[in-house]
Amino acid sequence: MNKLLITVRAENSHDIATVRRVNELAFGQPNEAALVDLLRKSADPYISLVATDGEQVVGHIFFSPVSIESEDAFPTAMGLAPMAVLPEQQNRGVGSLLVREGLKECQRIGCDLIVVLGHPQFYPRFGFVPAHQKGLRSEYPVPPEVFMVAELKSGTLTGKHGLVKYRPEFAQV
Ligand SMILES: CC(C)(COP(=O)(O)OP(=O)(O)OC[C@H]1O[C@@H](n2cnc3c(N)ncnc32)[C@H](O)[C@@H]1OP(=O)(O)O)[C@@H](O)C(=O)NCCC(=O)NCCS
Repeated sequence: MNKLLITVRAENSHDIATVRRVNELAFGQPNEAALVDLLRKSADPYISLVATDGEQVVGHIFFSPVSIESEDAFPTAMGLAPMAVLPEQQNRGVGSLLVREGLKECQRIGCDLIVVLGHPQFYPRFGFVPAHQKGLRSEYPVPPEVFMVAELKSGTLTGKHGLVKYRPEFAQV
């Protein structure tokens, strides 16, 4: 596969079963696929993008709003979760393309802040840093390097502190 042939576009209703399958295969369990199905019904706004190689959907990324408990005022923040690339298509740049296009789309809809709970070796290349360095904590007891944030507008977090809460659907799966 030539990674230059990969296209990223908004998910449409015909993609839903395939997106479920991509998540199930990438994670080896149904939980993340079920989460996407729940979030599509309840999150507003959400961003759901697919990476395609020709007609085949090979990857998927999802963003939904998170809330931030704080005395400070925060702009709209989104959480990146989940993202998945078919096992046989991994390590070819598909995931990176999805993150980059996803961040652009978040910015386009007016979101200045993205959080992710994920691989600390993967996300920093897209501008994510450990969230505790920027004054943000996660409601989940995770190692500090796993909870990361990206400011899409520089200085968004300067001088602020807050507790990031994911939507209730995350606790259901
Ligand atoms: C994580 C994932 C989306 C990356 O997609 P991808 O198409 O393989 O990503 P890319 O080809 O753009 O980048 C590959 C890089 O990601 C890194 N990576 C992939 N999985 C990783 C993991 N579990 N931990 C740390 N790094 C990981 C690779 O080591 C590689 O790093 P390198 O460029 O320094 O060699 C994909 O591996 C996947 O679907 N994994 C299973 C589901 C998952 O873990 N989702 C993310 C939850 S946070």
